[in-house]
Amino acid sequence: MSLPKSVKIVEVGPRDGLQNEKQQISVADKVRLIDDLSNAGISYIEVGSFVSPKWVPQMANSAELFGLIRQKRGVTYAALAPNLKGFDAALLAGVKEVSVFTAASEAFSQKNINCSITESLQRFVPLLDSARQHGVAVRGYVSCALGCPYEGTVAPERVAWVTQELVAMGCYEVSLGDTIGTGTALETRRLIEVVGRMTPRQLLAGHFHDTYGQALTNIFASLEEGIAVFDSSVAGLGGCPYAKGASGNIATEDLLYLLDKLGIDTGIDLSAVIAAGERISAVLGRGNDSRVARALR
Ligand code: HMG
Ligand code: MG
Repeated sequence: MSLPKSVKIVEVGPRDGLQNEKQQISVADKVRLIDDLSNAGISYIEVGSFVSPKWVPQMANSAELFGLIRQKRGVTYAALAPNLKGFDAALLAGVKEVSVFTAASEAFSQKNINCSITESLQRFVPLLDSARQHGVAVRGYVSCALGCPYEGTVAPERVAWVTQELVAMGCYEVSLGDTIGTGTALETRRLIEVVGRMTPRQLLAGHFHDTYGQALTNIFASLEEGIAVFDSSVAGLGGCPYAKGASGNIATEDLLYLLDKLGIDTGIDLSAVIAAGERISAVLGRGNDSRVARALR
């Protein structure tokens, strides 16, 4: 069995983790969280989203965050942008990397970004053109890669098509999102096999919500398939406002524990991530969803 020697972790807690929170979280608490995460050695952090504040009110202060976090050398601070308007706002805030996001399911695309998959791809073209001109790197997301809350089963071939489109327009990496966490290990293998026929595996990342407790097994299956980039969320925070019942991503702490035991290097200090997760869980007034944090604290 050959596993990757090192893995890149994309910390999505401040964005995917907090976007669904109903209570207003203060700018100071968000800044503290992001700085805690970079101090723990995490080298890629999704800070927020430049989306409509009417659609996702919690992300409305993303621009402000970029001005207040302590940006460390060697750390990528990224944000979501659904269209050129969002990208322009991100540029103004000094963002150096953005993610565009679409889906492999038409119904989810309509609910999440109010347009079809094809329309979303068309919106990304001018965004990517502008990103190229400004030297901004663009990552892509494909939601509902292993199932849709509205359509049910999603064919891997559809995921492969959307992924290939994103790469063709200039995304340097595409994260395959199990938005509602229904996927299991064999489905994950099959997904990577099908998507990998059209897109090299080194351009793929895994984004597993842990709603059904399958995220770590899906990650292990992905590692065996040669995937070496995973999105995770401190304290297992999160969910998507347009995927009812979806819980958080795999907890960063739980992923770090697995990778460490597998001898895979991340350069991240687990105990510092646990401390960050404890702090934000206290702010939110709820228990920590990371099992490793609960076991080790
Ligand atoms: P729309 O209503 O179709 O857009 O929304 P529009 O172009 O018709 O504009 C309507 C209003 O929104 C206008 O303002 C625009 O200016 C404004 P008004 O005239 O009414 O005052 N607007 C914007 N404002 C700020 N930033 C922008 C922006 N664009 C338009 N960028 C839109 C389309 C995409 C904007 C909307 O549907 C939206 O913001 N959706 C956000 C969805 C979202 O953030 N979902 C969660 C993130 S995705 C996710 O969690 C999945 C992921 O984790 C992977 C996985 O798990 O699968 C990534
Ligand atoms: Mg997500």
